[in-house]
Amino acid sequence: MIKCNSYPFTYLNFFHNTFLSLSLSNMSEKEETKDVDVSTINLKKGVKNLVETMPKLNKLPSDFILPLERNPLSVNYAQIPIIDISGLNGASETRDSTIGAIASACRDWGIFTITNHGIEEALIEDMMEVVKEFFGLNWRAKMKYASDDVMSPVRYGTSLNTSKKHNLHWRDFFRHYGHPFQDTFHLWPHNPPNYSNVAREYLERVWKMAMKIFEAISEGLGLEKGYIEECLGEGVQILAANYYPPCPEPHKTLGLAAHSDHGALTFLTQNGVDGLQIKHIDQTWYAVHHVPGSFLVNIGDYLEILSNGRYKSVEHRATVNAQRTRISIAVGHGPQLSSFIGPASPLVADNGSAQYGPIKYEDYIKIQQSSTVRGKTALLALKAQQSELI
Ligand code: OGA
Ligand code: NI
Repeated sequence: MIKCNSYPFTYLNFFHNTFLSLSLSNMSEKEETKDVDVSTINLKKGVKNLVETMPKLNKLPSDFILPLERNPLSVNYAQIPIIDISGLNGASETRDSTIGAIASACRDWGIFTITNHGIEEALIEDMMEVVKEFFGLNWRAKMKYASDDVMSPVRYGTSLNTSKKHNLHWRDFFRHYGHPFQDTFHLWPHNPPNYSNVAREYLERVWKMAMKIFEAISEGLGLEKGYIEECLGEGVQILAANYYPPCPEPHKTLGLAAHSDHGALTFLTQNGVDGLQIKHIDQTWYAVHHVPGSFLVNIGDYLEILSNGRYKSVEHRATVNAQRTRISIAVGHGPQLSSFIGPASPLVADNGSAQYGPIKYEDYIKIQQSSTVRGKTALLALKAQQSELI
């Protein structure tokens, strides 16, 4: 019988209040309207709209210029592990070696490519097509889903977090929850007409694949096979579709700032245009190639927390380019929003002490998503808070 951790209420309350008030107090900031000029208001419609209304744009508007130390486009490609996960269905020797390969990739990279995952290329292509069609709708149709609430079940936006004043990023995005479907399926877009059915099929399949990999990761950590899935409870799946149009002066900006994902694992596919970069253990940025038909799988903060720091969430960002539109579809998998997250007790016993949390997962997401300073700041705050308690 697996027992996922539960925490005494008084401890949680103390932790919570201090953590929430210490970290990122700008969450309560009101949207600033005073000194926002007209161009910024138009930018809220998205960068796709911007490039379409200004076809001769050959200079990056200054709002998008980011304080980058180096040209983000002149980095090397990383050789991340490529794992054939059909081995998880094989005889015990093959299964064990696949589990071993996943464990090493989690430990050494925090990101890997999976092949032979069983999701047909036709479904992945259909998904990419309906996402492309969604972004192709006019801005009015998309703005129906605009919201400054980071927890909104369906949300269209641009840059990182448009309710806060910060330099802009060259991307439009669209997010919504997936599993458990009964909660939000009815809210997903009805236009394009086949969007919701294709997305549902895709997200159901990705969820099942994620559970299979969680079994392998549980075993690789020396936990019972069903441990992580049990900790997820009902779980939550979040789809983020990103649209990065061609950019004048792509070396001066980013599509997406450095961040780590808040969930346990994210599965990413793209339209054949690279742009993802990771910050490796040596603190250097590397570009990551996506093999068509495969998924890039990366570790998010929840898996770092659950593994008590054995696996680290990978910091990543997206670059843009001058020639081609890039579309990526990232699907994150985490525990149910109301659950309190913290390290797995067998791994705490091994390490001596819990390095993170506990915190309600929903609160963690709010803090992480509302920050204009991304990187791994939310996770580091959680860790620092914990070390004060020990
Ligand atoms: C994300 C993300 C990267 C990409 O949506 O969280 O990291 O390559 N996307 O678009
Ligand atoms: Ni991400």
